[in-house]
Amino acid sequence: MNIGLTEKARQQISDGLLKLLAETYALYLKTQNFHWNVKCTEFFSLHLLFEKQYEEMSGATDEIAERVRALGFFVDASFSSFSELCGIPEEKKVLTSKDMLKHLIDGHETLIRDTRHLASLCEKEKDHGTIDLLGRRLIAHEKFVWMLRESL
Ligand SMILES: [Fe+2]
Repeated sequence: MNIGLTEKARQQISDGLLKLLAETYALYLKTQNFHWNVKCTEFFSLHLLFEKQYEEMSGATDEIAERVRALGFFVDASFSSFSELCGIPEEKKVLTSKDMLKHLIDGHETLIRDTRHLASLCEKEKDHGTIDLLGRRLIAHEKFVWMLRESL
C-alpha cells in the first residue's frame, strides 16, 4: 500500500477509528434503548429526537468502519471487542427522561473528545481523508448535544 501514509500512521489512525466505531455503536444502542423506553409528558418529541439521532449514527458506523478498511486494516466488529474499546458505559436501568438526556449528552461529549484527539493525530500525519470524516462526526455530535441540552 503506497498512499503517502506510513504503515504505523495507518495503524494508529485505524485503532483510533475502531474506538470511535465501538463508542458510536454503544451510543447508537443507548439512544435506541431510550427511544423505546422513554416515558414522560414530552414522550413523542423525545421518541422522535432519539430516533433521528440513532438513525444518523447508524449511517456513521458504516462510514467509520469502511474508512478502516480503506486504510488497510480489518474491522473486528463483535460485542466483546467493542466493549473492550468503548469508553461509554452501558445503562441497564430504566431512567427518567431527564436522566436519559444527561446520559446521552455525556456519551456524545465522550465521543467528541475522542474524535478531537484522533483528529490531532490525523493532522500530524496529514491524513486529510480521515480529518474530513472526523470533522463531519464532530459537527453531528456537537449538534446532537445542543438539541439534547435544549430538551432538558
Ligand atoms: Fe421506533
